[in-house]
Amino acid sequence: MAPLTRKFTLADLRAARQNGKKLAMLTAYDFTTARLMQDAGVPMLLVGDSAANVILGHETTVAAPLTFMIELTAAVRRGAPLCLVSADMPFGSYGGELASGFRNVVRMMKLSGADCVKLEVGPEHTTLVRELAGIGVAVIAHLGLRPQSVGLLGGYRARGRTAQDARAVVSLAVEMQRAGAAAILLEAVPPEVSAAVVERTGVPVIGCGAGPACHAHVIVMHDAVGLTAHRPKFAPQLGDLAGPMKQLFAAYVHNIDAGTYPAPEHQYEMPVEEKKKFTQDA
Ligand code: KIV
Repeated sequence: MAPLTRKFTLADLRAARQNGKKLAMLTAYDFTTARLMQDAGVPMLLVGDSAANVILGHETTVAAPLTFMIELTAAVRRGAPLCLVSADMPFGSYGGELASGFRNVVRMMKLSGADCVKLEVGPEHTTLVRELAGIGVAVIAHLGLRPQSVGLLGGYRARGRTAQDARAVVSLAVEMQRAGAAAILLEAVPPEVSAAVVERTGVPVIGCGAGPACHAHVIVMHDAVGLTAHRPKFAPQLGDLAGPMKQLFAAYVHNIDAGTYPAPEHQYEMPVEEKKKFTQDA
């Protein structure tokens, strides 16, 4: 384990594109886990709107409120000051009216301390990405499967599986780079598509179920450590925290049932003199 010893920046991510070093990114939603991830040497954290699923228990990410995402991102920032922290802009906080999307991104940047923001984009977001890049915001353009559009898509399906759709993903990636996106994130696309995006663009490409050509890979932490009921096919099974956690919770219940908790070592002491006075006065 090699903890980070200095701030990991976008320049480091760009350097990885040049030198071929593959980088890890994990989702994080709270101070404590972010601190552990930084200690473990995870260079990049994404405060994903998947928080709507794994933290709030919603079926989709659509319900994630902007204020909630700002608070979570600020907590992750405090826990991992050396990591590159990207904040997800939630559904409805951008798109539609340009000015309000712009304002919301600026609000996220000012209040959360994020290094960059991630937006799920279509061609209609090109102007917003350009305007944000114009004032110095590092935007990660999320293409491929866009969970915020699940209603319109009618479900979660991989993208770019036909030649026509694959071309659409690649040309949107090129358009986003032209608009000033700092990086591209590809979710659930075949490896041929990510390889083409890597070839046709000059910015770092982060994959989420997008094959080995990507310069970095991100997964939802809960999926990888066995805390979600269904792990997507592309998430590695790093372990099973659910089993040990349930055992610990059950042990707590047992200790209370059995009267072994609280034991003397868990109690605060009263000085003998005070105890005497207290019991005499009573
Ligand atoms: O919200 C999220 O966690 C994401 C990743 C799955 C890329 O957008």
